[in-house]
Amino acid sequence: MIAIGSDHGGFALKQEILEFLKQNGYEYQDVGSYDDKAVDYPDIAKKVAEMILSGEAERGILICGTGIGISITANRYAGIRAALCHDCFSAEATRLHNDANILAMGGRVIGGELAKKITHTFLTTPFSEETRHLRRVEKTFFGEGFNGSGIVSCGQGCGCGR
Ligand code: RB5
Repeated sequence: MIAIGSDHGGFALKQEILEFLKQNGYEYQDVGSYDDKAVDYPDIAKKVAEMILSGEAERGILICGTGIGISITANRYAGIRAALCHDCFSAEATRLHNDANILAMGGRVIGGELAKKITHTFLTTPFSEETRHLRRVEKTFFGEGFNGSGIVSCGQGCGCGR
């Protein structure tokens, strides 16, 4: 299952990616938004992140205007590895090296055809499972500064949740 969501800035591109997923037989759930009215991208990032963390979805796709806000937000959920990719090399590398589970893109940055190729690359490239990449992915999530409670900690023990 692929969880997919966008804010208003990513809505038009999401429609093209939904078409791509449909045509290629992917099972997906669109968590919104369902029109181009302004919404807050953290609300969409949360829905996709939660579907992955609960095991409902294996991969996610998040689109906002730049892809930046929505990927920053998604990466605050422990266990989420959201990669902002606007080229196929990065989409392949982030699967091979980072085992990224969310692809983020900017609907105001790239066009539909490139976005579809990036999506195809992201969804068809496996994690390499190589020891050095496994070690680095583990360090990212279990190293100092992370409180392990579902949201990244600033490491200062202040309880700010950042
Ligand atoms: C919305 O105008 C825009 O700020 C949002 O889509 C995204 O680009 C934020 O990072």
